[in-house]
Amino acid sequence: MSTRILSTSPLVGPALAELGARFPDLRLAAFRSPEWNAALPEAEALVVMLSEPITEADLDAAPKLKAIGTYSVGVNHLPGKACQARGIAVVNTPGVLTDATADIALALLMAVTRRVAEGEALVRSGQWQGWAPDQLLGPGLAGKFCGILGSGPIGQAFARRAQALGMTPLFWDREGRGGDVDYGAGGAPRLPLADLLPRSAVLSLHCPLTDQTRGMLGRAALEQLPEGAVIINTARGGIMDENAAIDLLESGRLGGVGLDVYEGEPRINPRWPKAPRAVLLPHLGSATVETREAMAHLLCEGLAAALAPSR
Ligand code: DGY
Repeated sequence: MSTRILSTSPLVGPALAELGARFPDLRLAAFRSPEWNAALPEAEALVVMLSEPITEADLDAAPKLKAIGTYSVGVNHLPGKACQARGIAVVNTPGVLTDATADIALALLMAVTRRVAEGEALVRSGQWQGWAPDQLLGPGLAGKFCGILGSGPIGQAFARRAQALGMTPLFWDREGRGGDVDYGAGGAPRLPLADLLPRSAVLSLHCPLTDQTRGMLGRAALEQLPEGAVIINTARGGIMDENAAIDLLESGRLGGVGLDVYEGEPRINPRWPKAPRAVLLPHLGSATVETREAMAHLLCEGLAAALAPSR
C-alpha cells in the first residue's frame, strides 16, 4: 500500500481528513512503529508532533519526502538545515497559538505567585484550619518589572497580560535589535540580558530553542535575577539550566518557577516534583479546542501547498 502522507496523529478537527481527501494515500501510524518505519520510504509528507524528533537518518530513509509538517510552532525537533539542503519544506503553525500560549504563561504566573496549587491541595486534604493572616502568602505583581525573553508575537501577548496586571514589561530579543517593542498596549525597551535580569521580578520565556538560546539561562544568569524572582517557562526546557533553577528554589533565592515545558520531556527531572514553589504543567500551551483546530488547518494548508503539482 502506497503512502503519500504519513501522520502520527489524526490531529484535532477535520483538517487532516480533508487533506487526505485531496491527497490520497494518507496513512496514520504511531511514531517509529513498524508501520511508520515501513511507510517512510514512500512518504512525500510527514506529520509529526513536537514530541517526535526527526533525524537526518529519517530523511535518508525517505527519499521522496517533500515536506515535514509539525503540529507545533516550535521546530527544534526537526533537522532544519538538512531539510533546507534537500529542498524539504518545513511546515509549522505560527500565529494561531499566540493567545493560548500567553494564557498558559499567565495561568502559571498566577498559580505560582498566589500559590494556587498549594492552596487547592490544602483544601482537598481536609487539613485546612481556616483563614489565617499569614497563610500561603505570595508576592504581589503590580509595580514590578516583567522580563520577557523573546519579542515575537507570544512574548508581546504575554507583555499585554503582564501590563494588565500592573507590571512593566522589558524585552530581550535574540536578534539584538535596539529600540522599543510596540507590544500592542504600549512600548517597552529591548535590553541586553545583563541589564534585564537584575530588574526582572518575573522572567517569562518566549523564545524558540536554538543553538543561541540553548542553556542561555545557566546558573550565573539565574543568579542575576533579584531575590525572590519568579520564572515562567512555556517555551522550551533546554533554554534554562533546570538543576540550577531547582538549587535556587531550594535555597529560597528564587521565589517560584512555573513550567509547561521540560528538557527531555515527557521524562522530567526527578527533582522537579519535590521542588518548593514549583508549578508543573504537561505542555498545555496550545491546548484549547479552537487553537488545536486552527493549528491543524494551518498545517494542512501548508502541506497541501508543499505537495501541489507545481512544486
Ligand atoms: C508549540 O507549538 O511549539 C508549543 O510548544 C505548544 O505549546
